[in-house]
Amino acid sequence: MKNESRIEKLLGIRYPIIQASMVWLNSAELAAAVSNAGGMGVLGPNAGRKDVTGDPLKTAELFREEIRKTRALTDKPFAVNFLLPIEGVEISYRYAKPLMDVILEEGVKIVITSGKDITQGLEHIDRLKSAGAIIIHREISPTVENAITAEKAGVHAIIVTGQEAGGHMSDNRISTLVLVSQVTDAVKIPVIAAGGIYNVKTANAAIAMGAEGVYMGTRFLMTCESPTSEAAKQAILAVRSEDLVVINTRAGDVRVVATKRIKNGQGDSEVGSIKTAMLDGDLDNGIISVSESAGGISTIASAKDIVEEMAAAFA
Ligand SMILES: Cc1cc2nc3c(=O)[nH]c(=O)nc-3n(C[C@H](O)[C@H](O)[C@H](O)COP(=O)(O)O)c2cc1C
Repeated sequence: MKNESRIEKLLGIRYPIIQASMVWLNSAELAAAVSNAGGMGVLGPNAGRKDVTGDPLKTAELFREEIRKTRALTDKPFAVNFLLPIEGVEISYRYAKPLMDVILEEGVKIVITSGKDITQGLEHIDRLKSAGAIIIHREISPTVENAITAEKAGVHAIIVTGQEAGGHMSDNRISTLVLVSQVTDAVKIPVIAAGGIYNVKTANAAIAMGAEGVYMGTRFLMTCESPTSEAAKQAILAVRSEDLVVINTRAGDVRVVATKRIKNGQGDSEVGSIKTAMLDGDLDNGIISVSESAGGISTIASAKDIVEEMAAAFA
């Protein structure tokens, strides 16, 4: 029997392999499949949904449904992602309270908070602490300094994301290699590495840098259980890492597959919707956001196969 790591103990899971939160592209089915395989699934924003509600209360109720559906599919631990309010992003304030109310009412035990400065969301951190939840914090633009701030705020673990990652990019372009090495020297709480981790070799590299778990988005997009559209999955299968480009959207920079639309110069200044391409399958009008790892992914596998393959890094 291997020794249980700190993350495994903290979360009550078999392997410290966590499926990342990905807006529109998470679901009860995916999260439960990862958790049932011994990792930990996560419900992110709009998990399981096909449409925009535009209404915070309705969105929160739909999130409640997805939490209950996940519970029906697994008796293993899973987490939800909660976006802390971000200064200047009005929508993040409108959605925060209704979503946090549902998370607490449903008694969710593990919450991944993400944000751009934990000190802006301390009232939510305090509510989670009072409820006895386990808090894992992920800064969108991580630094050694904001990792120390999160540790002081009393979170149980942090996710440190390098610039290789899919989703909205950090304001600081620091690689997983360099950032995880620095943060693991600076904090005592367990560090989970994210950004470009997609196979055993990259997980081993994260462990060598002191990480005690991995948080993987792009690899879990490419699963049978993921709600990602078949068109987007095929585009990701075909892409080489050197074909990826960084575009600027109103919400910040995103690394995307260079589809025809992007090559024609469209999409650089507007928000190309992740939902349009990645959920609805309309590659001409949306964007496919991925990590640098996309070029190395050549299969669509079950979530169970991925967890079992990755487990070799933690044996
Ligand atoms: C399509 C896509 C959507 C994402 N959406 C979110 C999100 O809504 N909230 C969030 O905190 N992170 C989001 N992320 C970032 C992931 O949670 C995670 O940090 C990242 O995928 C890890 O890097 P990897 O893709 O190299 O595994 C998203 C990533 C992708 C690929």
